Amino acid sequence: MEAAPPETGTWAIQPAGPLVGDVRVRGSKNAVTKHLVAAIMGGRPSTIRNAPEVGDVDITSQILESLGVGIERAGSLITVHPTDSPAPMVPVEFTGLNRIPILLLGPLLNLVGEAFVPLVGGDQIGRRPVDFHVAALKALGAEIEVRDDGVAAKAGRLRGAKIELPYPSVGATESVLLSAVLAEGKTVLKNAATEPEVTELALFLQRMGASIELQPDRRIVIEGVEHLDGASTTLEGDRIEAWSYLCAGVVTGGEVRVVGCRQDRMVTAINVLHRMGARVDVTDEWTTASAADGLHPVAVSTDTHPGFMTDWQTPLMVLLSQADGMSVLHETVFENRLVYVPALQQMGVEVELFSACLGGPACRFHETNNLHSAVVKGVSALRGAEVNVPDVRAGFSSVIAAAAADGPSTLRGIHHLERGYHRPAEQLMSLGLDLRTA
Ligand code: EPU
Repeated sequence: MEAAPPETGTWAIQPAGPLVGDVRVRGSKNAVTKHLVAAIMGGRPSTIRNAPEVGDVDITSQILESLGVGIERAGSLITVHPTDSPAPMVPVEFTGLNRIPILLLGPLLNLVGEAFVPLVGGDQIGRRPVDFHVAALKALGAEIEVRDDGVAAKAGRLRGAKIELPYPSVGATESVLLSAVLAEGKTVLKNAATEPEVTELALFLQRMGASIELQPDRRIVIEGVEHLDGASTTLEGDRIEAWSYLCAGVVTGGEVRVVGCRQDRMVTAINVLHRMGARVDVTDEWTTASAADGLHPVAVSTDTHPGFMTDWQTPLMVLLSQADGMSVLHETVFENRLVYVPALQQMGVEVELFSACLGGPACRFHETNNLHSAVVKGVSALRGAEVNVPDVRAGFSSVIAAAAADGPSTLRGIHHLERGYHRPAEQLMSLGLDLRTA
């Protein structure tokens, strides 16, 4: 169903000892792109600061420009110049490049009453259907046609509705926020996602003039307004990047000091490091982690916020391989997220996959054939290898394994990693990694 972009980018990595030094993280890919979409509904330009320079921002900017929206980028500052009459169709050339087009349905309906978006892509970590988005928009009064090449929609003014998500999906919650803010009347969304990036989007929309109440028990109440204005914001630091670099430091026997990501965005991850016996130091400005005395095995299940996030589990897998004993990792958000494990096995990580729910209560994938639990044996001897990187987070796990291996590695498909990490080659080289790009 989903077209995949071409595989590009190769890194040759030569292990060069412990990774040590500072990394400053910028705002997250999973917040900035949604802010760009929200900003097209403003009556005036919006500015987004601390934006990362990642492939997903390039793709999203090009999508918005194809609609007639002006995007000005100057380092970490992005200015969005909305247009009164955007083109209603996202061109099919954007098929499968990222997950942003589906989020444009609501804003385009709000602005021009019709929309077509091509099939969305993103990492191949599960089926990733868009049925919750479609059902929510139908509840808000849109007529939707799901076609082979994408989704077409029409509506007069959207009308507020009561919506309950079958699962607290990040994207579907964002779809409802972006649609209901300009709808007529009240929308009550139950079982909403509460990830920090979702809250950041809600706060940005509130600055634009939206009426949004974040209530207890995963409820969001949105009172539609007639008009949104431009707004200005500074994005919070990317908690996935922060965790990835902390793990890179620990696995290589070094210590990376991550600057720019608040502790409250990392609390569950830091707790796992504590449980593994790592030393973690946290201040208002930075976090460091190291494990001079080795690591203990643990059992971890991924979950929706405030649980251990699914995007953190790829670097964790390499960390578990360096713990002294058997660890268990249970992925409960995306049924195919462990697709990257063969690459790590090639690099010496001793891990077996199971379709049973191990190390936690049964999840949505119990009694399926999806290999979504892993038993990892430490301490695995990591070795250099030639591997293909299947997705953005998996890419970083291969980098960490390569940095701690006994010989050189070649990683292909690095464009996946560059879609979500800010200038990763530069950052890793500044920590002492011997990395050549091709
Ligand atoms: N789901 C459905 N139907 C839908 C929507 C979701 O069944 O219409 C299911 C998914 O298949 C999945 C679960 O709900 O099993 C959760 O998916 P969710 O919608 O929450 O994920 P997403 O919005 O597609 C975002 C991030 C992911 C991150 C997840 C979970 C973006 C662009 N992507 O995806 O980030 O893992 O939330 O936190 O925001 C990444 O950055 O590497 C990445 C994959």
